Amino acid sequence: MTLLSQNQAGRAGDSCLPRHVAVIMDGNGRWAQRRGLPRTAGHRAGAENFRAVATACKELGIEHLTVYAFSTENWKRPKAEVDAILALLEQYLRESVETMARDRIRLRFLGDTAVLPPRLRALIAETDGLTRRIEGFQANVCLNYGGRAELLHAAQAFTRDCMEGKASPDNLTEAAFSGYLWSAGLPDPELLIRTGGELRLSNFLLWQCAYSEFYVTDTLWPDFGRDELDRALDWYRTRDRRFGGLSTKK
Ligand code: FPP
Repeated sequence: MTLLSQNQAGRAGDSCLPRHVAVIMDGNGRWAQRRGLPRTAGHRAGAENFRAVATACKELGIEHLTVYAFSTENWKRPKAEVDAILALLEQYLRESVETMARDRIRLRFLGDTAVLPPRLRALIAETDGLTRRIEGFQANVCLNYGGRAELLHAAQAFTRDCMEGKASPDNLTEAAFSGYLWSAGLPDPELLIRTGGELRLSNFLLWQCAYSEFYVTDTLWPDFGRDELDRALDWYRTRDRRFGGLSTKK
């Protein structure tokens, strides 16, 4: 029996199904440009595809899908593009507030959301409230998220706890430190998918992806459909996850 099937199997009877899939949704701009459309059309198609992939993950029995929707570095893009992405997120959240309970898709946001526009923050607070009352599949949306910012934020929170006598550096464990991250309580992603062909992590889930299997496809995010998801999961099933130890496969 592999480490995966002992510890990390999904819930749907498929012992090699990841519990948690993370996705760097890259390629929206190229998808649009190839069609002679503005980049924002690619983000719109990307948002629609997020809905489809989240539904597919839920149906498969995956517990968590975490996506990189807006990074701490994405503010460097032209204001019109940033505004368009934030408007799409707002529209998505407005619709989700209506449908979350019916579709049993919980939403959680990871990142420094305090600096986002007030309307978006209010919707995030509303979805947080709904999420607490629903059980089952959870989609985690990384918004104004950066892996380094998350680690810094966690280090600051831990230091504050030490200064207030609530924690001590001598007793800090990996599990305890994980509890200071924006992703507190989530299992680490077993599978990280990157669309759009780039071979880099782009400051995404630096702590959490220490042992994730990394699947990269040239397919652009809006084209990443159920077939591609199945291919990624089939590839994942072939992986020999050793976590620094030796293979337990015969
Ligand atoms: C990367 O493609 C994509 C983004 C930076 C934005 C992703 C945002 C969305 C899909 C919209 C809202 C999301 C949700 C969850 C509703 P890119 O623009 O870097 O593409 P390129 O590499 O082809 O230029």
